[in-house]
Amino acid sequence: MGKVKSKWVCEDCGQSHFKWAGSCSRCAKWNTLHEEVESVAKDIRFEAKPLKATKPVRIKDIDVNSITRIKTGFEGLDHIMGGGLVSGSLNLIGGEPGIGKSTLMLQLASLLARQGLCILYVCGEESAEQTSLRAKRLGIEDDRILLYSETLFSNIKLQIDQIKPDILIIDSVQIVYKQDIPSSPGSVTQVREITMECMHLSKGHNITTFLIGHVTKSGEIAGPRVLEHMVDAVYEFEGDRQHGYRLVRSQKNRFGPTEEVAIFQMKQQGLQEVLNPSENFLQERSLGSVGSVIIPTIEGSRAILVEVQSLVAKSSYATSTRRSTGLDPKRLTLLLAVLEKKMGYQLHQSDVFVSIAGGMKITEPAIDLGIILSIASSFCSKAIDPNVIVIGEVGLGGEVRSVPRIESRLKEAIHMGFTRCFLSKKALKSLPKKLFEKIQIIGVNVVEEVLYALLK
Ligand SMILES: Nc1ncnc2c1ncn2[C@@H]1O[C@H](COP(=O)(O)OP(=O)(O)OP(=O)(O)O)[C@@H](O)[C@H]1O
Ligand SMILES: [Mg+2]
Ligand SMILES: [Zn+2]
Repeated sequence: MGKVKSKWVCEDCGQSHFKWAGSCSRCAKWNTLHEEVESVAKDIRFEAKPLKATKPVRIKDIDVNSITRIKTGFEGLDHIMGGGLVSGSLNLIGGEPGIGKSTLMLQLASLLARQGLCILYVCGEESAEQTSLRAKRLGIEDDRILLYSETLFSNIKLQIDQIKPDILIIDSVQIVYKQDIPSSPGSVTQVREITMECMHLSKGHNITTFLIGHVTKSGEIAGPRVLEHMVDAVYEFEGDRQHGYRLVRSQKNRFGPTEEVAIFQMKQQGLQEVLNPSENFLQERSLGSVGSVIIPTIEGSRAILVEVQSLVAKSSYATSTRRSTGLDPKRLTLLLAVLEKKMGYQLHQSDVFVSIAGGMKITEPAIDLGIILSIASSFCSKAIDPNVIVIGEVGLGGEVRSVPRIESRLKEAIHMGFTRCFLSKKALKSLPKKLFEKIQIIGVNVVEEVLYALLK
């Protein structure tokens, strides 16, 4: 081993600095620099080398059919992966503590083992007993899944060379370390080196690899951004713990679409795919209740119907409260201001609570009209016709704007039996004639028209 020197590495972008500074010179984020010890050894850096030396090939001579995809057995997961798991790919799965990453990977391992693939599950975070206990609960007992409780990379590498698994799962990348790097496990340097090693392993030996990664408080995968550049695909596991819904979202995918989601539900027997999310989200709604409005939102390539609920109550304090679950509080403030200023709703003395039922988080402005209508419904104590859906972004002047993908939203609403829809008048022209036969579509210019039609 060569001499050792210390450096300051940005946790976020991976930039190294010679001395400490308050903010990173590259990404300008504050308090992201951490001291790390770097060894300047001259030995071979990567243990895993590609099997054979390759040389450049003409682009049209490359056989794209040589990309083999493995169907996982989870329909939604195959979809977000672009039609199945690409063999030899390096995948990163991030998510908050306890969200169900290990559960998902174990279930995936079981599905893949059933197809005859050999899986090495490195459970550095838990003992093999803990993981096997989880496997018992999930009813998984396949000979082809090998559990290995180890955190030292060279040992893991040794086993990989011996077992030659088809699938490698590392739970988690933050806990595995290389001995020749002096910084601690989970540090930027360690995580980067481990990921680099895994990349060589997966490309060189055609091992499909999953790295489980923790996320930071801000929701990003811990470790530098460079980590996300090195892997083929990044999947974010998110969800709402109370409701048991879990979303796997593809953030980056070299072999498929991004921003697609697969929806799961956490059950006693493990994660279960939700194939008809609208049905799931609407099944608990009580028809004709005040403050409830149904809106179609887009997640990835599909439309999902969700319920917005509002409660407007007289405030008992001098300052009123505004709370929102599942939507941006700033957006809520803005919409309340529009209701107050443009439509004369006296909301300043009322507490306003708005939530998206079922624990979904929605960021798209297409739900604006639904939120305003829901608040107005609660304010007037008048229920909205349960067969109605509304679609539209609301501008500062109270105008209803068109939003993308109206056709798929309408189709989902028709599929779920809704009979009337309010949307921007400007969007009408672009809609196919056929849709008008299946649902009554009412074009509007301003929010007042909707409120008048449904509340007066
Ligand atoms: N008996 C059970 N019934 C239903 N759900 C359970 C049961 N046991 C565990 N769970 C669910 O599994 C979750 C934990 O899953 P898992 O250990 O896979 O998460 P993780 O993301 O790997 O967590 P960590 O960050 O600690 O590794 C719990 O939060 C809980 O929702
Ligand atoms: Mg885990
Ligand atoms: Zn930085």
